[in-house]
Amino acid sequence: MTRASGSRPRVGIVGLGYMGLATGLGFAAHGLRVTGFDVKEEIREAVRRGEAPHHEPGLGRLLRAQRKAGRLGVAETTEELVRTSEAIFLCVPTPSRPSGRIDLRPLRQSVVDVARALRPLSGYRLVVVKSTVVPGTTESIVTPLLRRRSGRPPELLGVASNPEFLAEGSMVHDALSPERIVVGVADSRALAVLHRAYRPFRAPLIALTPSGAELVKYSANAFLALKVSFANEIARLSDRLGANVDEVMEAVGRDARIGPRFLSAGPGFGGSCFAKDLKALTVRSRDLGVRLRSTEVALRINAEQLAYVRGVIRSAVGPLSGKRIALLGLSFKAGTDDVRETRALPIAAGLVEEGARVQGHDPVAIDNFRSLWQTTRISSRGRLDFCTTVEETLLGADAAILQADWPEYSRWPAAWTSLMRRPVLVDLRRAVDPARARRAGLMVIGIGAGTGQRSSVPATSEPMA
Ligand code: UDX
Repeated sequence: MTRASGSRPRVGIVGLGYMGLATGLGFAAHGLRVTGFDVKEEIREAVRRGEAPHHEPGLGRLLRAQRKAGRLGVAETTEELVRTSEAIFLCVPTPSRPSGRIDLRPLRQSVVDVARALRPLSGYRLVVVKSTVVPGTTESIVTPLLRRRSGRPPELLGVASNPEFLAEGSMVHDALSPERIVVGVADSRALAVLHRAYRPFRAPLIALTPSGAELVKYSANAFLALKVSFANEIARLSDRLGANVDEVMEAVGRDARIGPRFLSAGPGFGGSCFAKDLKALTVRSRDLGVRLRSTEVALRINAEQLAYVRGVIRSAVGPLSGKRIALLGLSFKAGTDDVRETRALPIAAGLVEEGARVQGHDPVAIDNFRSLWQTTRISSRGRLDFCTTVEETLLGADAAILQADWPEYSRWPAAWTSLMRRPVLVDLRRAVDPARARRAGLMVIGIGAGTGQRSSVPATSEPMA
């Protein structure tokens, strides 16, 4: 395939999950011709019909528009995708293994499939690893495997790393308007193709080595997770002091050196990336003889935050046996139906194990959470029911717990309180404004809200030892 140096490459996306589909649509919306493929037939069919296969704000509309414009095609096989694409982006999952290392089987399989499809073709192709892989993977595993299985000489096959920074809930925005594009390349031809692919985005393109680019992704997630964990520790301290962690962090974040984002205390971080990436980076570093205490500590703080949350719930509700608890928000955060590493799971499990009956609600994640819940081995699993309205969820509840801050929860009308047996809300995100709660006759206990367990020990002015 020969292309004029200024023309936009045709893009192939292998894996149309949360990240792959948004990535493909980002390219399509910027005028590139994109072909996608997923091993799951139901995903291929949904995308063909122009229906988003998962919940993501704005995704359905963008998908319909790009299908209509003819810029996003769906291939039935990897061969078909590879035939029509100059730059092939691998967007397959790299889940965590029990050891903390990532499971490379889906990536290896997609590499082998792409390599096989490349064999009979002429012309240059670029394979880009967008899946999150530990530093060194592109050069030490993907490149040799591709070369061996495709039989292609290096001048006809480029391999690059190009990590993504899309956050669920804002994926469409992030895919269309990235703050920066990070690529890891071993040669100038690969870089030239990526420059042509990303030119319409008008975002700074930072070129590093493949390992460097892979390390950017892990470092960014580790740093963000550390910010969240730090805020969570300060929330615990705020509870002791009767301070409000949001007010404190807002003032802290006004320092441009720190920045205001990712300082919201809560139930601890969840989602498909943070815990997985921190574990993988910790293990990879250890294998290389470097101990990363910061990632270890962030993971430990996150585990402790769950214990802290359970303590707050227990002190707000009292003994849980026989109590009816409403659990609001089942996804790992608002704005997504993704339940991977959601804190709703261990919270619900702890409640039913201590004898409570739980009523769960979420605007979009009930089906995903139900499947996840069925995989748990808790004997009292049947003590969790799902409700389709907030009203039904709160009916007869001894307390409610707000786990994910969907906007509809923060409007809390007085009518909701009157449905409850006891008007208690454990607000893990401080989503309900205190004045509104007062008007609604609701007693709110929030993590770090200055309403929690104030220390009975007066502050001293003794110098630190
Ligand atoms: C993250 C990264 O942000 C993204 O760049 C990367 O590509 C994938 O991982 P995501 O997992 O979608 O994205 O969610 P994110 O918004 O980063 O939140 C992660 C977790 O931290 C959630 O559980 C969220 O509730 C929590 N969080 C985030 C907080 O508790 N407080 C905050 O201030 C921010």
